[in-house]
Formats: sequence, structure tokens, C-alpha cells
Amino acid sequence: MRQSIIDFIFLWSNYNKFLRSHGREYAVILLGIFSQLIFYILYPLIFKYIFDQIVPNKDFDQLVAYAVGIVILLVTCGFGAYIQTKYMAHVGGKILSDLRSQMVSKFHNLSFSFYAGVDSVDLLSRFSNDMDKLENSLTRALPSLLESILITIGCLVTIFFIDWRLAVSAGILIPIGFSANSILGPREDRLNSESRQQKNSMLMVVSDFINSWLLIRAFNDKVHVKKRFDLSNDNYTKTSSNYSYCSNITPVFSDYGVNASLAVIVVVGAILTMKGALTAGSFIGCFALLRKVADGSAKSAKNYTTFINALRPYKRIQKLLAEEEIAGDRHDSVELYPLKSDIVFKNVSFGYGAGQLAIDDISFSIKKGNSVAIVGTSGSGKSTLLKLIMRIVEPSCGSILYDGINLDLASVASVRRHSSMVLQESHVLRGTIVENIRYGSDGISDERLYDAAERAGIHDFITQLPLGYETVINDRGSSLSGGQRQRIAIARAFAHDPPLLFLDEPTSMLDPINEAAINDTFTKLTGGRTVILVSHRLATSRDFDKILVLHKGKLIEEGNHHELMAMDGFYRTMWDKQNGFMISAEGNAKITPERLRLIPIFSNLELQVLSDLAGQFDTEAFEAGVRIIQEGAPGDKFYIAVRGNLKVLKKDPDGREVELAVLSDGDHFGEIALMKSVARTASIEALSHTSCLSLSRERFNRLVGTQPELFKALTEAMAARFTA
Ligand SMILES: Nc1ncnc2c1ncn2[C@@H]1O[C@H](COP(=O)(O)OP(=O)(O)OP(=O)(O)O)[C@@H](O)[C@H]1O
Ligand SMILES: [Mg+2]
Repeated sequence: MRQSIIDFIFLWSNYNKFLRSHGREYAVILLGIFSQLIFYILYPLIFKYIFDQIVPNKDFDQLVAYAVGIVILLVTCGFGAYIQTKYMAHVGGKILSDLRSQMVSKFHNLSFSFYAGVDSVDLLSRFSNDMDKLENSLTRALPSLLESILITIGCLVTIFFIDWRLAVSAGILIPIGFSANSILGPREDRLNSESRQQKNSMLMVVSDFINSWLLIRAFNDKVHVKKRFDLSNDNYTKTSSNYSYCSNITPVFSDYGVNASLAVIVVVGAILTMKGALTAGSFIGCFALLRKVADGSAKSAKNYTTFINALRPYKRIQKLLAEEEIAGDRHDSVELYPLKSDIVFKNVSFGYGAGQLAIDDISFSIKKGNSVAIVGTSGSGKSTLLKLIMRIVEPSCGSILYDGINLDLASVASVRRHSSMVLQESHVLRGTIVENIRYGSDGISDERLYDAAERAGIHDFITQLPLGYETVINDRGSSLSGGQRQRIAIARAFAHDPPLLFLDEPTSMLDPINEAAINDTFTKLTGGRTVILVSHRLATSRDFDKILVLHKGKLIEEGNHHELMAMDGFYRTMWDKQNGFMISAEGNAKITPERLRLIPIFSNLELQVLSDLAGQFDTEAFEAGVRIIQEGAPGDKFYIAVRGNLKVLKKDPDGREVELAVLSDGDHFGEIALMKSVARTASIEALSHTSCLSLSRERFNRLVGTQPELFKALTEAMAARFTA
């Protein structure tokens, strides 16, 4: 009970704060509520007077005057009720609209760690479920609650002046009639919250179904996902029907309780009237007032529950609004002009959370008009470095200087104005293709837009669509291939034609021919423009002015291709790993014997044997999401990734798959399968369109089986590798 009062005061004072910001309308609403109070008190008193004074005296003139009075009262108070309802709906709508708008603005400024820890269904439910509860509480329950409380108290006080005994019996008995509310209220609240949580869990499964339908279909995993859905559906059905039952039965108990109380009061009133202690008019007037007390109490109880039910949703919304934001513009922020000289990183570090640093004490400089590549293994911090240059995240220490101006002093809008970025995941937005390419800058002419699409190699595809550039793409862009989405993102960057161009793996989803054509365009673009390209494919940035090599968040090597090759370090190893492959126009891959020798198990083989072996490989292409190897399944092939990204997954003791590593161009896997049939120790799944060279055990045996010496050497090499 005490907690309930504290919650009520908390919510009321918060609503009051909102309402006070609409002072004039709030005053009208209060006036409207007050007019209801006047009406419900005066109305029974007029009846009492008519029956006690006018009827016994047969005073027709006074009756007419009172009838006119009733009409005036009805019109005035009816108008009050109308205005109150209208203003409340208007003000409530405005307050809720402001809250929604604050929430959406907040989304723009929330940190990466917030998005990493939150589920989209949960966020959406703040807009639907939570906002609905708030709307009910603020625009419907609050005014009715105020009105019914005031009317109940007002009527009780009036009864008191007519006959204190009736007022005392009503004051004691009617609250007893409502005991069902205080008993069942907390249970209803708990069930309400449980039901919401179960509903969200169910929606998350539905969202997985929609967003991952391809993966589910690829693994024919419908049974498993359907089981998850059935379980969450059952749980939701159970809690929601319990909640419905509880919320419907509470008013029934209350109603009967109040009617029982009323019956007792009427009996008391009848006894008093029969004993002559109460006039008939007073009894009738009191009875009308009592009905209003009972009605008012019933309404108060119902509205109180609806009102207080918004407490949790309101707190959730406030929690979201209070989330820590990434730094925006400072009060003394300055406009950034197109780059004149250079961008300098001075001892910059950054971490997404409390854990390891994603960027660790990095210093370098980029000259205006240069092309700079950021290369390194997966997870080395390449995308993070781009986010720092774009001011999407801020360094935790060190500084980034644009022409000597500290980037955290520059206004975010001016940073964006002079730059454009192709993100690693090619995002498209719900809307037409034109809107997607123009995104962020409405001033782009049609000619420039078509030219950008042409250069991104997507114009022909778009014009073949029935609606051409006006074709509507859904939010996930699922009507487009990964490569088409990526080309739309590239067209967007070209159309904006900025002096600074940031590209994060812009061609990872494209086939070799398209990739070469677009890289050619990027190279042409670099004239006068500063281009910073993240790519794990080193051939793309071979001719760039500068290459930054990242490893575990640190800048380990820096220079142009020739300087880095001469260093004979990490870059050189990566380069050697990625080279030695040829891909024909049809997409068939080949490996050179020299490149094959770099694979440890083949390192001691003669070049002639390696050459024979190279001829035994087949090319296999996998789309993103396709599982190449399933943990536990018997293995019979060895793979070398020629182009593309793959992830390595392994089940933990609870049977959940955990990502262990990401493989890319030149990596190999599954070599043990060449020697014997053993269960795969991990799963491998394509992250992007991937071309692999594969060698089956059967073919391998055909080649080496006839040469016992060779087989022995390979077995030893394999044993050495797996004991290493
Ligand atoms: N939003 C995030 N929240 C928490 N950690 C993150 C987030 N994004 C990246 N990281 C972590 O920061 C590190 C660097 O990530 P980043 O995306 O910069 O790597 P990358 O070099 O671009 O990798 P890839 O080649 O796979 O794209 C990784 O360890 C990654 O797990
Ligand atoms: Mg990345």
C-alpha cells in the first residue's frame, strides 16, 4: 500500500511537470474537472430541495425557475466536460509526441555499447506497448481519476451536511466494498509485466524468423525455430490469459462489493426515514449522491490501476532517455572546412567498453589528396579507425587533428558535409532507390545520380526494373543481392562526391570482375580527393600512397607497398598468403605450386608434386550464410579460401555456437580430412560471397596413395601441425 502511494506520487508529480509546461490548457482542464464536481454535487441537492420544499408547497413558479437552473447547469457543466476532454486529448497527444520524438533523437546519439546490449524488439516495444500504457494513463485514466476522486469526496462531504450518519456509513462501507482491488491489484500488475516480457520474447522469435529466414531455410531448421516459437507462444498465452482473467474479475468483485455496501447504507437510510430522522427529499438526494460516491469509487479504483500501470513503462522510457550519449557538438564547436593540409592522429586510443582497446596508441598522418589503405586481420581495428576519423566515436585518449583543428572541436554536421562513407555492412533504407542514393543530400541532380549509379555498376540493373529508380526497397533490402546493396552504397558515396571518401571493404560482396571495375573507379576518383580505404584484400591498395597495417589495435607497419614488402614483416606475410591465385573471368580459381608450398603440410613437397596437386583442386562458390563445414560431420575435403570471409564456429558445453575466428583470402581449413575421415572439430560458414579451392580426400589419395614415401611425409607433417 505504502509503495503504491509512493508510486502514485512519483507518477503524478512527473505528469504534473509535463502538464504544467502546457499551462493554459492545463488550467482549462482543471476548470473542466471542477465544473464536473459542481454539477454532481448541485444536481442531487436540487432534487432534495424540489422534493422537500417545492413539492410539499406546490410552488410551480419555483419549480420552473429550478428547471431553468437545471438546464443552465447541464449546459455549463456539459460544456466544461467537452472542453476538458478535448484539451486533455490535445495536451496528452502533444506530451506523448514530444516523448516519442525525444526517444528517436536519443537513438541517434546512443553509444555502440548500448546498441550491442539491447534487442530491437525491446526498443520497439517502448514505442508500442509502453507508449500505449502511458497514453492510457495520462490522457484517459488521469483526468477520470482526478474527477472521480474529487466527486467522491465532494459527494461524501455533501451527504455529511445532510445526514452525518449516512456519510459515516458510506465512508466506512464503500472502501470495504473495494477491498478486491487492493487484494488483486498487485497480482494484476505482476501479471501485466510478465505478460509484456513474454510477448517481447515471442516477438523476438518472430523477428528472427523474418530476418533470418534464409539461414533457417538453408539449414531446414524450421522445426527448431518453430519449437522455440511454440514455447514462447505458449508462455505468452498463459500469462496473457491469466492477466486478462485477473484484470476482468477485479471490477466484478468490486462491483458486487460496492452494491452490497450500498444495500446496507440504503437500509440504514430507510430506517432513519421511517423513524422520521430523515426527510424523504433528503433520503432521495442522499441516495443520488451515494450512487455517485459508489460510481466515483468504482471509477477511481479502475482508473487508479490504469494510471499506476504506466509506472514501469514510464520508468523504462525515462531510463532510455537518461542513457549516456556519445559526445555531440560542444558549445564552442567550429565549422570544419574542406581539408587543406592533413589529418593527424596523435597517440589515439579507443575501446568500446571497459575491456580491451580496439585502437591502441596509434599515431600517423594522412596528406590531403592521398590515398591511404588500412589493412590487417579481422578484428584488428580497421573499421574502428574509420569511425574515429568520421567522428562516429571519440578517442578515449590522444587527439585527431584536421588541418590542426582538434576533431572534437568540429561540429559533427561539418565533418559529415565534407566526407562520405561506404559502411562495411551495406545498409539500405526503406524507400525508393533514388531516395537511397540521394540519402543525406536532397540537392543531388538526376544527372549526377545516374552517373554515380553508372560508375558503381548498378545503373543498368536499376533501369531494367519495372519501376526503375522509383523501385521501393524494403528495410532489409532483401529484394536485392548483397552485391547490389553494396553497389547502391557505393553509388551513394559517388553521388555525394565529397573531398574525403571513406570506404570500408566497399567491394567485399562483389564478384572479381565487378570488383576490378569499381576499384578502377576508386583509383580514378583519388585525383585531388583524399580516399581512405579499409580492405583486407591487399591487391586493391597496392598502388596507394600509404598503407597502414593494423594488428590487435596497434599500428605495426606503415609505408607504401614496396616499402612494406621490403620490410619483410607482417604485411609481406599477408601479401604472400593472398597471392598465388588466379581467377578466370568465369570465376574458376587456380593456385600456383609456390603458393601451395606456403601451406605447412605441403611445405616439404617437390615443386612437381605441388604442381600435380594444384591441378586436383576444384573451385566452389558459397553465398553469405551458407555453411561449408558442419561441426561433427565426417570430413572429406580440404579448402583454401581464395576470396571472401568465413567464420569459424564451435559449440560450447551448453551446445551454443560461439564464433572463434574469421578467415579470409588465403586462409585454409580442414586439412586433416585429406588423411583420414574424422568428425569436423568446428563449423565454417561464409560471411560474404566466397570462392574456395577444394581438394577431396579421394583425389588426394589418388595422387599420393601410389607414393608411400610422399604419404609418409605428409602424415608426419600433419602430425607435427596438430601437435604444434
Ligand atoms: N560495437 C561494438 N561493440 C563492442 N566491441 C566492438 C564493436 N565493434 C567492434 N568491436 C570490437 O573492436 C575490435 C575491432 O573491431 P573492428 O570492427 O574495428 O575490426 P575490423 O578490423 O574492422 O574487423 P573486420 O575485418 O572483421 O571488419 C574487435 O575486437 C571487435 O570485437
Ligand atoms: Mg571492419
